[in-house]
Amino acid sequence: MKVLAINGGPRSSHNTAKLLDAFLEGAASAGENVEKRRIDLYSLDYKGCTECFGCKVKGSANYGKCVYPDAIKELLWEVANADAVAFGSPVYFGDITGQLRSFLERLLYPFTAFKKDGDRIIAPKKLPTAFIYSMNAPEPPVEGGYAQRVSDMPRWMERVFGYEPEVMVASNIWQMDDHDRYEMDIWDWELKARLREEQFPKDLEKAFEIGKKLIAAE
Ligand SMILES: Cc1cc2nc3c(=O)[nH]c(=O)nc-3n(C[C@H](O)[C@H](O)[C@H](O)COP(=O)(O)O)c2cc1C
Repeated sequence: MKVLAINGGPRSSHNTAKLLDAFLEGAASAGENVEKRRIDLYSLDYKGCTECFGCKVKGSANYGKCVYPDAIKELLWEVANADAVAFGSPVYFGDITGQLRSFLERLLYPFTAFKKDGDRIIAPKKLPTAFIYSMNAPEPPVEGGYAQRVSDMPRWMERVFGYEPEVMVASNIWQMDDHDRYEMDIWDWELKARLREEQFPKDLEKAFEIGKKLIAAE
């Protein structure tokens, strides 16, 4: 089985990356021969969908596939054919990062069909997915859960890949060790230090359990 974690955050060793690594560990613990890999999007050179419509050309061998020739073209197909995938992002202005958004445009649009006499969705298979977010602020009390509010992309993911994504958010996270260097003293760093010890391990555990659950869903 192949399980992938797509890191839509810029830092490859901080909160989002750690949560995704925990997700991968959880997935690996749930089955035999689980191949796992994290991909850091900020290390790749690519664009969002350019509306070239190369995935929609009549009679083309590439119908339903992204053809834009950059660093993620092959990766998109690998993601669509994986057994479980987590998408991770720091919350930026209440949403996922632009980098992850661009990646998801490219992943989802080729599998969305507009042919009158055909299926509307042409993804190669059902795919269990998760969205794992990290954020600096405390989680706002929102009906139904804040994680569900962050992005519409889980809804599109469900439509295209036929599986309601798991979503979670790790809030009030530890942003940096050298916080004294920056004009960022509105945060209660003592509280954050405590939450890093008490809350973040629970968030990692939650991500681990989501990994286990997605492998069981396959
Ligand atoms: C451009 C930008 C926008 C941000 N917007 C928010 C926000 O809307 N809400 C929030 O709680 N934190 C916000 N943050 C804080 C990030 O969510 C936080 O730094 C991130 O979760 C750290 O993830 P990392 O450790 O994986 O890099 C923002 C940070 C940046 C740089």
